[in-house]
Amino acid sequence: DEGAILLPRSPVVTVMGHVDHGKTSLLDALRQTSIAAKEAGGITQHLGAFVVSMSSGASITFLDTPGHAAFSAMRARGAAVTDIVVLVVAADDGVMPQTLEAISHAKKANVPIVVAINKCDKPDADPQKVKNQLVSEGLMLEEFGGDIQVIEVSATKGIGLDLLEEALLLQSELMDLKAQIDGPAQAFVVEARVDRGRGPLATAIMKSGTLSSGNRIVVGAEWGKIRAIRDMMGKVIETAGPSMPVEIEGLKGVPLAGDDVVVVHSDGRAKMLSAGRKSKVEEYRLNKKSSPKSVKFAD
Ligand code: GTP
Ligand code: NA
Ligand code: MG
Repeated sequence: DEGAILLPRSPVVTVMGHVDHGKTSLLDALRQTSIAAKEAGGITQHLGAFVVSMSSGASITFLDTPGHAAFSAMRARGAAVTDIVVLVVAADDGVMPQTLEAISHAKKANVPIVVAINKCDKPDADPQKVKNQLVSEGLMLEEFGGDIQVIEVSATKGIGLDLLEEALLLQSELMDLKAQIDGPAQAFVVEARVDRGRGPLATAIMKSGTLSSGNRIVVGAEWGKIRAIRDMMGKVIETAGPSMPVEIEGLKGVPLAGDDVVVVHSDGRAKMLSAGRKSKVEEYRLNKKSSPKSVKFAD
């Protein structure tokens, strides 16, 4: 846009890696909370979103992803919507199938990787072996003359967390991330569900602009008028800006993870866009005999 005001924004960082290599534990440690212990069976079922405020005053938006093989589509989506991938590799287990898959998603999405070698507290930890494995997979690590930072950490013992934060902030400074804060919001959905009392809820990460309560939005094929915006602590907020994760209440239906959020000027426009998109989804279903997992609309 001509005359648009671009301001620095926080990085959106997606944590990826093989199942049980400690992604959620690492985020917990960074937030000093305890989500992993509360998860059913300790398996991340969906893409969590959090903001971590650093001691420096900077903040980072983190997306967690599941490492289980069944969640490949979520990892692909995670890589596509992020600024930086933190690749978590357990120092005792080394490079595993979903480690490789995460590398390939990050490469495909052209997103820089910061490696966190986790579980370095374990007696059988072998970080050097992990580094060698990563180099054989084509990652240009810093200590081998490349530009990929590697940090040795222990999520459970709280070792190396400051270094990891520094590495992420350094990487994000290099990228000089900026976004337009004025004008209508653009965002993308990371997860959506129905709440019995509150109806359809979408968790979205803001890309640019400002999202406000009362905005008419089209999200994938769904539409609505925003009744409430909440931050990830559940606090109601009036507006949200770039890189913030928010929960949006007021949609008429449940969108798909990966859907874009766009603001339109009227209910009429929102309904029309939604109806057009729904008929395209229906057409897809008839042709492919299945529901689309995500849809890109060119309307
Ligand atoms: P998925 O979401 O299921 O892919 O797993 P995850 O990568 O989020 O791993 P999670 O944080 O659930 O941790 C898996 C197990 O590893 C748990 O039992 C953790 O306590 C343990 N763990 C995580 N980090 C560390 C660490 O730094 N050291 C040790 N010793 N154990 C760890
Ligand atoms: Na786990
Ligand atoms: Mg997890």
